[in-house]
Amino acid sequence: MMFTLSSVAALLSLVAIPVRAANIPVTVGGVGILKYDPASVTANPGDVVVFTFKQKNHTATQSTLANPCTKAAGGFDSGFIPVADTVTAGFPVAQYTVVDTNPVYVYCAQANHCQSGMVFAINPGNTLAAFQAAAAASGGAASGTSSAAYGYPTSTTTSGSTTDHKIIVGGTGVLSYSPSNITAQQGDTVTFEFHQKNHTATQSTFADPCRSVTLTSTTGQIGLDSGFMPVAANATTFPTWTIQINDTTPLWFYCKQATHCGSGMVFAVNAVEGSSKSFEDFQALAMQLNGTGASSSSSAGYPSASSSGATKMTSGAGIAGLFIAVAFGLFL
Ligand SMILES: *[C@@H]1O[C@H](CO)[C@@H](O)[C@H](O)[C@H]1NC(C)=O
Ligand SMILES: *[C@@H]1O[C@H](CO)[C@@H](O)[C@H](O)[C@H]1NC(C)=O
Ligand SMILES: *[C@@H]1O[C@H](CO)[C@@H](O)[C@H](O)[C@H]1NC(C)=O
Ligand SMILES: *[C@@H]1O[C@H](CO)[C@@H](O)[C@H](O)[C@H]1NC(C)=O
Ligand SMILES: *[C@@H]1O[C@H](CO)[C@@H](O)[C@H](O)[C@H]1NC(C)=O
Ligand SMILES: *[C@@H]1O[C@H](CO)[C@@H](O)[C@H](O)[C@H]1NC(C)=O
Repeated sequence: MMFTLSSVAALLSLVAIPVRAANIPVTVGGVGILKYDPASVTANPGDVVVFTFKQKNHTATQSTLANPCTKAAGGFDSGFIPVADTVTAGFPVAQYTVVDTNPVYVYCAQANHCQSGMVFAINPGNTLAAFQAAAAASGGAASGTSSAAYGYPTSTTTSGSTTDHKIIVGGTGVLSYSPSNITAQQGDTVTFEFHQKNHTATQSTFADPCRSVTLTSTTGQIGLDSGFMPVAANATTFPTWTIQINDTTPLWFYCKQATHCGSGMVFAVNAVEGSSKSFEDFQALAMQLNGTGASSSSSAGYPSASSSGATKMTSGAGIAGLFIAVAFGLFL
């Protein structure tokens, strides 16, 4: 039997009319959590994605697949929504009304959260993994510079009274920072130059060497984090990331890639030799706490592809969108 085109259209319009818009909940952040949960949703036009902001200070900001950690021109943005660690109820909410079935890419604009994998998508189809990878690889404030392809050049450059300390990160068959600990003065800079494989320089604490200080801080400190810096095996130019040294307080860093930290891939500035917090002690603690190699958990806040929960899965076709940030009761 055959339907004419118009009878099929009539049938479809009958079926399609009374679809009720759904509210789709998404949790943003939380104590020690740098992600959106779930990581993606499928939604119909008219559905409302309800972002509930939990701990720390996050955003839901629209970006693009090409530039995952940059606000899209004309895109929606919740703005920063700070939530204190002590809040247990009445979390602030922001809503986005889905326009059509095209993918909508979202990231957290706080510090390096996006590069740490704090991204979310509506109707990503099969592009979610690519979006997450592009975010992780986008490297924050890093800039690409080149250095000699062979031999690792000078380790420091001094201009006036301040010094730029150059640290080579990784390299073919190398799981370390070189040098792995330095003494630096106020006003100095440290430039990490990322070599082969896919490493980070992520700030941690002496007590918890393999977790980002952003996750462990009880005061809301946002740690420094280069984000992942993938470098091809045949690369001859290397991305760099520079930090400023503001005082001589020790700074602790690790590579958040897989089991690298547990293998001793850590770095320190101004660790005090001979104290109870020497570089050696820091490295030993990293290997002791995370050195089993077997079951290293997710790399510090990077969401696993399977993190989507019991999300309502629906799909449909489109209209026009609206973003309403409703920040009630910020109980700070
Ligand atoms: C939230 O983060 C933004 C951007 O880093 C910052 O300007 C703002 O002061 C923070 N708010 C609180 C309460 O920490
Ligand atoms: C770099 O590592 C991160 C974390 O394991 C991963 O998500 C990303 O896809 C990697 N990038 C490349 C280009 O391999
Ligand atoms: C590196 O190898 C890839 C293929 O594996 C190739 O596409 C690329 O052009 C090479 N780059 C350089 C700088 O040789
Ligand atoms: C030093 O201060 C600058 C400017 O406030 C900041 O961007 C940088 O991250 C600070 N460095 C460290 C190691 O905290
Ligand atoms: C780096 O750490 C090692 C071992 O703790 C120590 O012997 C060395 O003096 C340190 N170097 C600097 C520059 O602090
Ligand atoms: C390191 O170990 C701590 C627990 O001691 C765990 O919470 C953290 O996720 C581990 N980090 C990595 C990168 O495996």
